[in-house]
Amino acid sequence: MTTSSRVAVCPGSFDPITVGHEDIIRRSLAFADQVLVAVAHRATQVKQGLFSVEERVAMIREVFLDEPRVEATDFTGLLVDFARDRGATLIVRGLRAVSDFEYEFQMALMNRQLRPETETLFLAPHVEHSFLSASLVREIGALGGDVRPFVSPPVMRRLRERFASTSP
Ligand code: PNS
Repeated sequence: MTTSSRVAVCPGSFDPITVGHEDIIRRSLAFADQVLVAVAHRATQVKQGLFSVEERVAMIREVFLDEPRVEATDFTGLLVDFARDRGATLIVRGLRAVSDFEYEFQMALMNRQLRPETETLFLAPHVEHSFLSASLVREIGALGGDVRPFVSPPVMRRLRERFASTSP
């Protein structure tokens, strides 16, 4: 990227990436030349995951094969430090509902406190995705429900494999 390029980070757990995440990432391309989809490492998170960080990154790459402006990677440590190291000035987060707001607002203000040069941009998803979350996809998938409307084919393949290998 040239020095004048605007780089945005789209951080998250992405366990796994859903069509709701994809929608936000594609929308963020209107505000940046390059979008780094950054999967937070377990060490920075309390939650236990279904997929490893490496698998999550691989799925994001498969989903965005058609989009050279999107790069998937993982990160450890503080998000603002990762953003600084990669020359990113924007953090993009999706806001699905009022219930997301408090947590997102707190993170945005804390990230600004930690690094004032990084601005957080909240994007609203397509209304069809406003109820969607990766945790619901994991739960429905684990219980044998149909999650095809909520994830792209490469993710669906891995979910099938994962649940086939964990079912009794
Ligand atoms: O998809 P999630 O789980 O809501 O994403 C949360 C994430 C990864 C964006 C957040 O936990 C994060 O930024 N972690 C990195 C560590 C960090 O910078 N923590 C301080 C946030 S103010």
